[in-house]
Amino acid sequence: MSHSLEVESWNRRRSGFYNRNNGLLRMKTFYIETFGCQMNVHDSEKVMGTLLRRGYRQVDSPESADLVLYNTCSIRDKAEQKVFNRLQQFKKTGNGKVFGVLGCVAQQEGERIFERAPHVGMVVGSASYHKLPDLLGQLETGNRRVTGLELDTDETFETPFARRDNPHRAYITIIEGCDKSCAYCVVPFTRGPERSRGSGGILREARDLAETGYTEIQLLGQNVNSYRDPSPAGWDFATLLRNVACVPGMRRVRFTTSHPRDFVKEIIDAIEDVPALCNHVHLPVQSGSSRMLGRMQRLYTRDEYMRRIEWMKRASRDIAITTDIIVGFPGETEEDFEQTLQLLDEIEYDSLFSFKYSPRPNTPALRLEGQIAEEEKGRRLTILQEKQRAIQIRRNAGYVGTVEEVHIEGYNKALQQWIGRTSQNKTLNFYDAPNDGSKEDLLGRYLPVRVTRAGPNSLVGERVQ
Ligand code: SAH
Ligand code: SF4
Ligand code: F3S
Repeated sequence: MSHSLEVESWNRRRSGFYNRNNGLLRMKTFYIETFGCQMNVHDSEKVMGTLLRRGYRQVDSPESADLVLYNTCSIRDKAEQKVFNRLQQFKKTGNGKVFGVLGCVAQQEGERIFERAPHVGMVVGSASYHKLPDLLGQLETGNRRVTGLELDTDETFETPFARRDNPHRAYITIIEGCDKSCAYCVVPFTRGPERSRGSGGILREARDLAETGYTEIQLLGQNVNSYRDPSPAGWDFATLLRNVACVPGMRRVRFTTSHPRDFVKEIIDAIEDVPALCNHVHLPVQSGSSRMLGRMQRLYTRDEYMRRIEWMKRASRDIAITTDIIVGFPGETEEDFEQTLQLLDEIEYDSLFSFKYSPRPNTPALRLEGQIAEEEKGRRLTILQEKQRAIQIRRNAGYVGTVEEVHIEGYNKALQQWIGRTSQNKTLNFYDAPNDGSKEDLLGRYLPVRVTRAGPNSLVGERVQ
């Protein structure tokens, strides 16, 4: 299409996005709230980009929006309930607004959402976001209910105009969906089968981000390790990592999430070789008991997991290791739980996310014997978290006296501290000593900081002059 034609059709399309209200031409507005993981956060950025491009304006309260969107998470029951609580609030006052439910609850519940919340006008799962422009078009022309719920798709949602929220770290999706079938997990049902993006498009996005000033990016997928480049280059994940980290201007490259089964030594080799790859691997273990790992259908044993941990511990770089753990999975005995506690002592994770098992619709674990009472899950969670807190206090204390490079992400006025993050993804806040009042703007810069104090969740230090 020639440029003038493009502009003309853009204007023509845009004129449809204004509606008459009190005799004035008014632009359509939208509000979006996001729940769940980083993949959802980044999906929302792409959805915002799509809406802004269509001439919508973003507002920061649902009350003042024509279109109210919730990008939802269904990983645990509590997360799922959040969206229904939100929708309930607007049952009476939502007249005239269009409500849209996006993301994992949308995919899971589908048209049942219209029954539970009749004021909802749009239900779209993440595997159908490439259809958003079409679905928005249908809403704009007066369609009351639109859905995008196909799961079995080859499509990925790529938009060159994502509206990125975080000025310091940009997300790039490299793979969507998940082909594993962990017994407790809804993601394969809510995000569909794995689809990898071509390496060319990923590299182009990384270069564009570097040109707009981003120095830190995070590659995203439910299981980044199973990345397979569909283009003729045919890169695996480790090769992609090396290439992205060599984009001029990139100082830090992170990735999440890694599945242990597909985590190969080449990833650690890449981290060893390429300075821009961060000293951090998030490797969810879920349980320290091989028996439980089998019941969870995780496809690895404790020993196989430990082999991967050994690669990291033996590396010359000080690689931070973090994980996810589920307590109270059906059939978990005191002995199984004890093995998870021992694993924490053995590995000494830098931090972890821990959850009580939450039964989810459609998942095989629903049918397992040995469901565990909520109070017992709570008891195990508390014990686990207390143990990990002690480990973090000990580990972080080991950093006192060292000098770490931080990427500066903010300033805490009350504490008069800059907020920084180390390559290991630890928060290291620091005083810009000596503080002579002539404050420089340090946001976005990388500086060496000497650690002077350590707590369980963060470090404090002083700028090295
Ligand atoms: N793809 C990632 C995890 C995505 S979900 C991976 O395989 O590691 C993030 C975490 O939520 C999981 O690692 C798991 O610890 C937790 N989780 C998933 N389903 C859960 C459930 N039904 N109950 C409790 N925690 C759950
Ligand atoms: Fe869920 Fe397992 Fe896939 Fe992770 S790998 S998203 S836990 S099914
Ligand atoms: Fe939640 Fe869906 Fe992410 S269930 S954790 S938003 S993939």
